[in-house]
This record gives sequence, structure tokens and C-alpha cells, in this order.
Amino acid sequence: MSKFVQISPEGEFYSNGNKIDDTDFCSSLIKSLRLEKNVCMAYLKGDPITVESKSHPLVVQSVEHSNNQSLLLRYNYGFTEEFELTSSSKLFIDDWMRLCGRSKNDVPFVFSSHAQAFFLTKIVEPLSADAFMFKGEEIELDEWYKSEPSVEKESFWSNRYKESHTPWDLSTHHPSIDWVVPRLKLSKSKVLVAGSGKGHDAAKFKSLGHEVTGVDFSLDAVNEAKRLYPDVHFECEDIFTRNLDSKFDVVFEHTLFCAISPAKRGQLIKSWLRQLRDDACLIGVFNVSSKQDGPPFGLTEWELEQLLSPYFIINFWGRLRDKESPRSGKELFIQAQKRKGF
Ligand SMILES: C[S@@+](CC[C@H](N)C(=O)[O-])C[C@H]1O[C@@H](n2cnc3c(N)ncnc32)[C@H](O)[C@@H]1O
Repeated sequence: MSKFVQISPEGEFYSNGNKIDDTDFCSSLIKSLRLEKNVCMAYLKGDPITVESKSHPLVVQSVEHSNNQSLLLRYNYGFTEEFELTSSSKLFIDDWMRLCGRSKNDVPFVFSSHAQAFFLTKIVEPLSADAFMFKGEEIELDEWYKSEPSVEKESFWSNRYKESHTPWDLSTHHPSIDWVVPRLKLSKSKVLVAGSGKGHDAAKFKSLGHEVTGVDFSLDAVNEAKRLYPDVHFECEDIFTRNLDSKFDVVFEHTLFCAISPAKRGQLIKSWLRQLRDDACLIGVFNVSSKQDGPPFGLTEWELEQLLSPYFIINFWGRLRDKESPRSGKELFIQAQKRKGF
């Protein structure tokens, strides 16, 4: 048994791409789910297993009103939990209008479409898209990701660099550039590294023979990148408004997507599209976690697929597994080709 299991968007356990048929085993796994440092873990006789869930790990398959303010949530494999629904106990709504919340062990759950329809028509009385009445009380739904407007300001990031408070900085390039990028056999390309920080990733692409532009809107980051890597081209610009003088063959994403407001993720993808020539590609390391506030803000694979698939054909999609890395269990590597017409 590997030390990793996967959970499909329907809430079923898989191991190495194969559905796990042993329901007793799955039943004990699902009961053991808990969150550690925003990574979902399961336990087998005390041994930890990293759970790579595509969407939220728990899927509410059905819901009933149990008593007073309580709901009974039924997940997969016969696992049930009471959930007290009051104006202070939270349910959330995501960008796809899915109801979400957290279990007693803090594990995120999402309602199946069937459970959500039943809940909204038979258990509560909807008042608007984000509020309903339940047992005479008005309950408001919060957005899944908390907004944090300060991250949209250049000063937020520049202050972090000034204070040397840059926990995201690896002091070197992301190791995936060593492992995966050579296998992609990129011919000499024009590479855009967006949110390039101190410039380590941009410098690595340059050392591999590519023509690189690093873009960051923090002058402190750009000055430091220029000092560390004087032969690499860095620009101090906002990626959302950057003027286009030329188009790129590749955009490399690493820790910008999780740094911006989640509400602006669609705009970031549009900015990549504007800066990529036809047939160009996105190479990215995405931080997947259950974190609702940020930065870094969490992300599920399901959400990323919904956002990217209209515009990109996915060629490679896989979790990076490096037990030595503090980011183990949280990183997803993808390579995708821009669809024609965007
Ligand atoms: C978490 S840091 C990651 C830096 C770098 N990718 C790394 O891994 O070391 C996010 C970076 O994105 C930059 N950034 C945030 N919003 C931006 C925007 N709208 N345009 C350009 N850069 C931005 C910040 O200044 C910061 O350097």
C-alpha cells in the first residue's frame, strides 16, 4: 500500500489510479480523515497516509434534518456526522455555487448536486443566492475563500521583501525545473515567469538556454532579482496590466496563483492567454491545499481544472511527491497547451 491515496470528486478512494473496492477499509480510512497543516491525512493503524483529493475530501451524498438545529450529513462508505446549522456555524458557497463546509475534524466537505438540491428545496427556505431560513433563523453563506484586498497592493509584497519575511522563497529554483522540464524537451523558447520574486526560476530557465522575462510588480523583488541574476531580464510590472510588446512560448507559474486574490484567478489566466502565442504552453507548479484564507490561498485540483480546461489542453497533470520537502502533498505539476482561438 502506497503512502498516498486519492479521493475522486465523487468522494471515492483510489490508489495509484485504481478504485479501492474494499469498503470496510475505505470506511475506516474516511473516519480517520483529518487536516494537518492544511493537508488532508488518513491513518491506517496509526500510520499516516497523504490524501490527494481532487475536490474537497468529503462529499455529502445526502442530508437530513435530524433534530433542532442539526443536520445529519451522510458521506461515502456509510460515514455520517451531525452538523449544527446556526448563523455562527458555517456553510460556504464557492464560485461554482456549490455548498461547502468543514467536518468535526476540520476536513472540507462539498455537497453533491443531488444533496444540495434536496437541502435547498426540502430542508431550508432560500432567501437569495447566499442566504436561507432554517428553523426561523436567517443563515448567510460566506464565500469559501476569504478575500484579502491587501495582496493586490504592490506595497504588501514589497514590505515582505524589505522585512526579509519571504517564507515562499526557496533560495533556489523550484526542483521541478530539474526533474520535469528537461523531459518536456522544450526547444529554445521565450519564457515568461510571472510573479518572479527574487528570480531563481527565471535564472534557471535562462541557464537552460531559454530567452526569459521575469515580471514582478514589487520593485524590491525586481531589484533583488537583478542583483542576484544580472544577466536575466526582469521587468517591474503588474501582470494584470502588462503591455504586450512580444508574445511568449511558455509561461511558468510558481506561487503567483496562490498569492493573488482567488477572485482574480480567472483574470490571471486571461493575462497568461494574452501573453502567449498560439499553441504556446503553460508549465506550472500549483499549491493545492484546504486553506481558505491567505496568502497563500488554497486550491483544489477540481477548481483548477474548471478554470483551465476552457482555455488549455492538459498534457500532463500530477502531484509532486517528495517526502523531504515541506511542500510534500501540496504541489501539483501541470503542462498544458493553449487552445486555439484564445
Ligand atoms: C509568493 S511570492 C512568489 C515569488 C516567486 N514566484 C517565488 O516562488 O519565489 C508572489 C510574488 O508575486 C508578486 N505579485 C503579486 N501580484 C502580482 C501582480 N499583480 N503582478 C506582478 N507580480 C505580482 C509578488 O510581488 C511576489 O513577488
